[in-house]
Amino acid sequence: MSSSPIKVFITGAANGLAEVREGLADHPEVELVGTAADPAKAGTKLAESGAQVILHGTTSTDHVPTAEIEAIRSVTAAPIVLVTSASANALLSEALSAGIFDVVLLPQLTDGIVFTIKKANSLAAGRATGGGSGKSTAALEGRVVTFFSPKGGAGKTVLACNLAATVARQQQRKTLLLDLDLQFGDAAIMMGIEPEKTIYDLVMARRELDTDALAGYVTAHSSGVHVLPAPLRPEDAELVTEERLGHLFAVAKESYDVIVVDTPPFFHGPVLSTLDRTDQLVLVASPDVPTVKNIKLTMQTLDLLHYPKERRHLLLNRAGSKVGLKAQEIERALDMKVAFEVPVEREVAVSVNRGVPIAISSPRSAVGKSLQDVADKLVPLRTTGAVEGGGKKFRRKG
Ligand SMILES: Nc1ncnc2c1ncn2[C@@H]1O[C@H](COP(=O)(O)OP(=O)(O)OP(=O)(O)O)[C@@H](O)[C@H]1O
Ligand SMILES: [Mg+2]
Repeated sequence: MSSSPIKVFITGAANGLAEVREGLADHPEVELVGTAADPAKAGTKLAESGAQVILHGTTSTDHVPTAEIEAIRSVTAAPIVLVTSASANALLSEALSAGIFDVVLLPQLTDGIVFTIKKANSLAAGRATGGGSGKSTAALEGRVVTFFSPKGGAGKTVLACNLAATVARQQQRKTLLLDLDLQFGDAAIMMGIEPEKTIYDLVMARRELDTDALAGYVTAHSSGVHVLPAPLRPEDAELVTEERLGHLFAVAKESYDVIVVDTPPFFHGPVLSTLDRTDQLVLVASPDVPTVKNIKLTMQTLDLLHYPKERRHLLLNRAGSKVGLKAQEIERALDMKVAFEVPVEREVAVSVNRGVPIAISSPRSAVGKSLQDVADKLVPLRTTGAVEGGGKKFRRKG
């Protein structure tokens, strides 16, 4: 926690906003740089405050206070977090589409608010440094494929493990499976390995991380995939900071042709910083209405983050089930093509419990073939160093 406090400006009014202000005033990670009940009158004060995040209180229960938000927007590009004591449900989706970073429902512990402030700030900082489009597409850099879904149980971990196994086994490429479901990661279990080390050991190490050091923390799977598992204890998750993660990605991209990332079913700091480094984002949907609704919200968040549309790929898992939504219905609801469909297969459950990815035990199964398709389209051989540059420094151990 050595970084300087985040400059926060508070505008507007809401029940409980005074308590929020008091809590933040004493908080070491935040510096209050000003307040103004009426943002339209805050003008130069707000512009010159150097605020990195704006907290705007509102008493409106169902509509985003558009005029006030515009007044703020006219003088600063800092992310805006809306604060309200009224039920935020009606407000939330409208707020997100209006470019509000987040909505916080009061009362709320100061730490919770500080977390949201930090998240808003780190995202805005990522955008300013060109985390998105201005990125290098050097052929020799490892490609990062991230699986995400806002819904638990959608199939992220199964798909991530099987894609990694497909790329390593079929395509003989140096592949890292990175488990960033930091609290409840189960990629190692699904791969049937018992790792000696996890990402926790990596972030706690004193030694500077380089490609040699990284090799000491991964566990090799028989398919050739190297696995860097999540911490064994949920409480260790928070030790994996965004800074450490950034460094890990930089080193891993040097060592590996392909990096497959598994995530938890929510956006938090590590997921957001992973997005910045993700070349291909696979959004995993299951064919049910709640999941589709949540994917829609995810898309809005991605829009806010200016995450490029061409890097988003919708994958429909458990496709073709009799009771579920059809691909066309989902495409219509999300206004986005379903790029991949993975059918339900009984054998998946067996493979999960045996700890052998189905892409290894039955590569010709429907799920195995689907993942081959994902690999061919998202990490085609010719775009990696494996072909053009003779592969990565380390060879697979077999
Ligand atoms: N295509 C499929 N066919 C049959 N079963 C599947 C399929 N995809 C996933 N499953 C089953 O769903 C279960 C949940 O999948 P998985 O653990 O990959 O979800 P997840 O998105 O990682 O969940 P969490 O958010 O809890 O980490 C698996 O144990 C597996 O048995
Ligand atoms: Mg999972």
